[in-house]
Amino acid sequence: PARPRVFSGIQPTADSFHLGNYLGAVRHWVALQDSHDAFYCVVDLHAITAGHDPKVLKQRSRVAAAQLLAVGIDPERSTLFVQSQVAEHSQLAWVLGCITGFGEASRMTQFKDKAQKQGSERASVGLFTYPVLMAADILLYQADAVPVGEDQRQHLELSRDLAQRFNTTFGPTFTVPAPHIVKDTAKITDLQDPTSKMSKSSSSPAGIIDLLDDPARSAKKIRSAVTDTGREIVFDAVGKPGIANLLSIYSALSGRGIDDLVAAYDGKGYGDLKKDLAEVVREALTPIQERTRTYLDDPAQLDKLLAQGAEKARVVAAATLRATYDRIGF
Ligand code: ADP
Ligand code: NA
Repeated sequence: PARPRVFSGIQPTADSFHLGNYLGAVRHWVALQDSHDAFYCVVDLHAITAGHDPKVLKQRSRVAAAQLLAVGIDPERSTLFVQSQVAEHSQLAWVLGCITGFGEASRMTQFKDKAQKQGSERASVGLFTYPVLMAADILLYQADAVPVGEDQRQHLELSRDLAQRFNTTFGPTFTVPAPHIVKDTAKITDLQDPTSKMSKSSSSPAGIIDLLDDPARSAKKIRSAVTDTGREIVFDAVGKPGIANLLSIYSALSGRGIDDLVAAYDGKGYGDLKKDLAEVVREALTPIQERTRTYLDDPAQLDKLLAQGAEKARVVAAATLRATYDRIGF
């Protein structure tokens, strides 16, 4: 039987992925290649919904793709591409937008949060319809599974509703995608504000470890990570969120269990933990950084690889769009 299909996308909205993106999302994408027919997309159409700089967008898309390749996305086994190179995403999004209720879209909490932050008069219609485009991304590839974090659950629910609604109204066309929940996904928090998640929109750059941070820089951030006034190294996400976060990162990057780490650091100090974690981070990130640089050093080759990915994606996307158009009378 054919392997189940998985789709996931990531926005090129920063100069590097951070450790939260890697441990919470992208690393699982790599593992899913063993069991799934994977479509992975750098979603640059989504990246223009809240304002952007044209001069940096293309390079950020390249960096995102280079990092995905560097962590182990294999373009031979998986389809890796840039969203704007496959026009069918926008085309299907229009159709899906026409079966989405205005009230239904208005209930998306992420839009409400982001629009409030921007000032609701300034928030774009694109930001409002972002979840419809996301549904198109997923449904175009007839994805069976979509790895999602908590923040995207409501959007995936909309994708499922739209697939079912279309199928019921016009005839079976789309696979209804299921959420792929990754067990033991480390929730990585901000080093300076350990009760908030590590995020590119964090207020302090010292709170985020970028995948491309050199070892001295990441070591410095880990050294100055906010902890607590205690001295015991135990895992307590509520009482000791800073230490819990350092242990989570350590465990995720080294493969050692939290209990094993807690036992190993019994009687040792926060400084010891931070020093060793800096080394673990260096060991994990150095090869990724070297491979990322290799891809970025040859942009023509990288662009060619992405063009081939888009070609592969388009074959599937065009077939789905054609079937959709047939259903609705185009
Ligand atoms: P950001 O929060 O920096 O804007 P995105 O929203 O672009 O990151 O997230 C891209 C992917 O990385 C999503 O799948 C998201 O769930 C995951 N992710 C982001 N931050 C974290 C984090 N701190 N811990 C775990 N996963 C995260
Ligand atoms: Na986010």
